Amino acid sequence: MPRIDIITLFPRMLDGFLTGSILGKGIDAGHLAVAVHDLRAWTTDKHRTTDDRPFGGGAGMVLKPEPVFAAIEQLQTPGCRRIYLTPDGVPLSPPLAQTLSRQRHLILLSGHYEGIDQRIRDHLIDQEISIGDYVLTNGTLAAAVVIDALSRFIPGVLGEEKSLTHESFTGKLLDFPQYTRPAEFRGMPVPEVLLSGDHGKIEKWRHARQVEKTRQVRPDLLKQTT
Ligand code: ADE
Repeated sequence: MPRIDIITLFPRMLDGFLTGSILGKGIDAGHLAVAVHDLRAWTTDKHRTTDDRPFGGGAGMVLKPEPVFAAIEQLQTPGCRRIYLTPDGVPLSPPLAQTLSRQRHLILLSGHYEGIDQRIRDHLIDQEISIGDYVLTNGTLAAAVVIDALSRFIPGVLGEEKSLTHESFTGKLLDFPQYTRPAEFRGMPVPEVLLSGDHGKIEKWRHARQVEKTRQVRPDLLKQTT
């Protein structure tokens, strides 16, 4: 069972994430274990200081090395992967999420809005990951996104294994539209082909919708496949 430790300044941001939803069920069922740690637990001064002004000047505060070194040195195990969430990391992708899902032990360090001491990155971190080209106020939600994305690759977390294979990005096309009952709702009918029972025709129609949607929304994905 993969074990994930998250180190953050804002542990309460993860309360709902870990208790509700499919991920919460996966944790309850023992498919993965997630522990949230407040970085302040590793401070030693009266004010529980985690940041300080940058050497060389400039605006903002920088996460201090001492509590982070203490936290990671306490939590790490041989062979674990230590990850720092940051907008200048490698982009999260399905293959990366899948690789992470196979790790026995991950430590996710959530960053500070204004930066962390470089010695943490140089000496404690194995990989830096970004969840997209935008800047969050801190990395805690990014850590949640990484966990959610990788949890889907852990056997048993998703009820139906096959829901993994059909969807966006596994085949580099966006998803086809889905419909359920009723066949007509407020004058809006479900496309006829889906009611036809002709599986060949349905597959063709779905593929055409995928290509159409991908061309409209993510033409870059089509360029990658050709
Ligand atoms: N911390 C702040 N912004 C982030 C992002 N886009 N990805 C990962 N960590 C972050």
